[in-house]
Amino acid sequence: MTQHLDLDQALTEAEPTDTGWWRDAVIYQVYPRSFADGNGDGMGDIPGIRERLPYLRDLGVDAVWLSPFYASPQADAGYDVADYRAIDPMFGTLHDADGLIRDAHRLGLRVIVDLVPNHSSDQHEWFKRALREGPGSALRSRYHFLPGKGENGELPPNDWESVFGGPAWTRAEDGEWFLHLFAPEQPDFNWEHAAVRDEFRSILRFWLDMGVDGFRIDVAHGLVKAEGLPDIGDHEQLKLLGNDVLPFFDQDGVHEIYRSWRLILEEYDGERIGVAEAWTPTVDRTANYLRPDELHQAFNFQYLSTGWDAVALREVIDLSLDAMRPVGAPTTWVLSNHDVVRHLTRLGGGVRRARAASLLMLALPGSAYIYQGEELGLPEVTGLPDEVRQDPAFFRAAGQDGFRDGCRVPMPWTAEGTSYGFGAGGSWLPQPAEWELLSVEAQSGDPDSTLELYRSALAVRRAHAGLGAGTAVEWTEAPAGVLAFRRPGGFACTVNTTGEPVTIQAPGRVLLASAPVEVEPEGVIALPADTTVWWAV
Ligand code: BGC
Repeated sequence: MTQHLDLDQALTEAEPTDTGWWRDAVIYQVYPRSFADGNGDGMGDIPGIRERLPYLRDLGVDAVWLSPFYASPQADAGYDVADYRAIDPMFGTLHDADGLIRDAHRLGLRVIVDLVPNHSSDQHEWFKRALREGPGSALRSRYHFLPGKGENGELPPNDWESVFGGPAWTRAEDGEWFLHLFAPEQPDFNWEHAAVRDEFRSILRFWLDMGVDGFRIDVAHGLVKAEGLPDIGDHEQLKLLGNDVLPFFDQDGVHEIYRSWRLILEEYDGERIGVAEAWTPTVDRTANYLRPDELHQAFNFQYLSTGWDAVALREVIDLSLDAMRPVGAPTTWVLSNHDVVRHLTRLGGGVRRARAASLLMLALPGSAYIYQGEELGLPEVTGLPDEVRQDPAFFRAAGQDGFRDGCRVPMPWTAEGTSYGFGAGGSWLPQPAEWELLSVEAQSGDPDSTLELYRSALAVRRAHAGLGAGTAVEWTEAPAGVLAFRRPGGFACTVNTTGEPVTIQAPGRVLLASAPVEVEPEGVIALPADTTVWWAV
């Protein structure tokens, strides 16, 4: 059997933790369009999510982070918000959102919602008025409107490029240009303006009053722009969300915004949190967002960007832990999300390597993020026909990969039926035929399935409180290409990242393994290629 799980043993080893809930939480990202469709229109929605919450409880996660579900023209799949105090009709109503939060809490799940403060939709009331009321109007100063360069203002105000490709400026009919680091339908707010700051503090309160447990803050590093919006000059093309020092990313002025948000979070009981999506040049810069009076967590994109290589992994794990220690924040770990190629495909070793990577991630101290469908071993869907694609990066043809739709294909729940149980209708992106075998139904109860591996891993993690706790791993001796470390409370993890079996001495009894393993009576084990083993030692 692939997965050995001795929960009783793990339970006896459990150690209570007195730290905040988020410090070692496993947080599951729901992408609302693609999770479950309650009304059969082919698009996921809040009623669909509500029905599936027991699945998430049984999976064993602590919290759910929902990508945006607010009123939006969907130019960037909801990351273009027109009104934070309304739910897009495609996803349901505020009443549904209230029900979702209540249901989740009843099941013991926390709820984190997405906030997109860098920009609004071009259909946001403020922006529509700004366009209408013309140059010099009060509403224009809530965004970045500027005259152009050149004799007749026909050139953009500076040389910045949009993350999705093309210039970061679009010219309004009256001749002024407005800034959009992403699509033209996503104009950037001017965070120097007090009304913008007030509005977001009010939005925070609105959702905190609704009962949410935290916010994932989109492009948290982008809000403040360098004074005077200077040209970048000679600079290599930036990648999606930028990981370089740029006049519109990771400016020091951004931190005072998060300090003011922290005060609001702390007005509420129940440990409400802020999670930064901050692409910064180094993990040390990321730590700045997590000083004790700022946010609670940040995504660890350096970890996500690391290949399947023992030396590189060990280095990034140490760097990440070292960077967070001085600010007292937990490190986070993430392999997949709605913006990147799913890790099963990205790491290049199929489901076997993906499973090994997942068990490594879940053995590390701190908080871990799971993107919907990775627990099913879903691959990236390649070769989607152009006519079904909706990613604006694809249309502007110069985004991070231009193919973010491939990780957003709706979840398969059942082996049969229209859209594999996603809903009673079709699905907004077509699901590959092989997904029948990857459905929740097909995998449930099969001890060799990836779904059961995740369920087991999360059960061990939950029972064994030491696993997510702490700020260090104790590395132990291992052959080349193998990572071996111990965690408090009699737990060890071994990862063979090579393509060959490696013979090691078993450090203890197998708790869980990502692939079948046989330990010889004298404790020798040929650790198979691309395999992670959790041990009770
Ligand atoms: C989100 C993307 C989105 C972009 C612009 C990112 O951080 O995760 O999906 O396209 O921000 O809002």
